[in-house]
Amino acid sequence: MRNPIIAALDVPTAERALQLAQQVAPAVGAFKIGMELFTAAGPDMVRQIRGTGVNVFLDLKFHDIPNTVAKAVAAAVRLDVQMLTVHASGGLEMLQAAEKAAEETAYEIGKSPPMVLGVTVLTSLDSNALSGIGLDPNVGRQVRRLANMANTAGLRGLVCSPLEVAELRQTLPRSMQLVTPGIRLSSSPADDQKRTLDPREALAAGANWLVIGRPIYGADNPRAAAEAIFESLQ
Ligand code: C5P
Repeated sequence: MRNPIIAALDVPTAERALQLAQQVAPAVGAFKIGMELFTAAGPDMVRQIRGTGVNVFLDLKFHDIPNTVAKAVAAAVRLDVQMLTVHASGGLEMLQAAEKAAEETAYEIGKSPPMVLGVTVLTSLDSNALSGIGLDPNVGRQVRRLANMANTAGLRGLVCSPLEVAELRQTLPRSMQLVTPGIRLSSSPADDQKRTLDPREALAAGANWLVIGRPIYGADNPRAAAEAIFESLQ
């Protein structure tokens, strides 16, 4: 089977990220680079991580006017990333601009377009927080609304919490790729994740990709940890 593990490189320096990536590369399907590492270490580090031959997921959650997001997406495509995130709450026009920029830039440089993933409602936001910013306080309804908007805009994937996967699977087209954090083996600590699924459960619920951070980079032997997670899926 294709390896669905996306190892989050949630480490503070380029040196540590590169060392971890080289160690773990044969055991994962992609690396996630988030805003801490990108802000500290920049585009060169993305190129170096991509140099391991593994797919890169650039998780910078773009949210701005459509023209600005389109340019940022184009720059990410030129860095040769295979997945990137935008906030679905940026609106239909912003999402369409992001997808168009991904497709056109990829065509220009002769690559396959990366998957532009829509982020619906951050799991740190509850009903109170949503009403505080004037949004529908029903989290599930807000997630569905934004997921449908992302689909209408032509996005091919979404980031969602493990608890949303099964429900979203029922309403979205089968081809929509669902990327899920909050993954824990029953033997590993939950850390600060409140709602987790184990890797098999998440795939059975309909996830396509599993974002896994601390259970891999926090392990004594990150490569062995990633291999054990992959084996648990067979
Ligand atoms: O260490 P852990 O496996 O909890 O890391 C999960 C990764 O997924 C982190 O990079 C975290 O920022 C990200 N994430 C998350 N929950 C969300 C969205 C993203 O844990 N709702």
